[in-house]
Amino acid sequence: MKALRVLNTFTAASLALVFAAATGASEPEDIIKYRKNVMKSNGAHMSAAALLIQDKVPEYKGRLADHAQAIVIFTRNIPALFPKDSDFGDTDALDTVWSKRTEFEKRAKDTEQKATAFASAVKAGNNPAIAARFKELSDSCKACHKDFRREQQ
Ligand code: HEC
Repeated sequence: MKALRVLNTFTAASLALVFAAATGASEPEDIIKYRKNVMKSNGAHMSAAALLIQDKVPEYKGRLADHAQAIVIFTRNIPALFPKDSDFGDTDALDTVWSKRTEFEKRAKDTEQKATAFASAVKAGNNPAIAARFKELSDSCKACHKDFRREQQ
């Protein structure tokens, strides 16, 4: 019974959150936090995939497709993570994200395509192709950061 009550409380709290989000606009600082976490997750999946591709942790080799899929999902529509009003505060996004929007969207599309190509190569299982598609994907992430993210120390 106690477990059920905890579950109900959790459900009520979740619903309250859903309704709060549905009725009010998100805070820009929360959007920035959210997009940084999504970007970080892409970075983490890329790093994990690199270890698998280099065959450093062969016992997890079977997970490469899952990392590739996660990257496909979370590189989808990157520009949506950068709405107007999320250009100030704790962000490394440069003004060019908004002032050169067409170029920014082009870079995002390129990364989406490279992520899909990488996932297809993983599915096909050809190691040299996997390594090549991974490198192209990684270069595509960097190309966007070079022009649209504050230089990292
Ligand atoms: C279309 C442009 C674009 C593409 C493509 C892109 N990023 Fe980013 N990324 C950004 C911008 C802009 C920021 C800065 C976000 C901020 O600070 O608000 C960022 C931030 C990051 C961060 C730092 C997050 C933090 O905690 O501050 C990581 C890690 C990252 N990206 C990884 C990746 C990876 C991996 C890929 C490719 C799979 C990728 N990004 C593709 C534009 C892009």
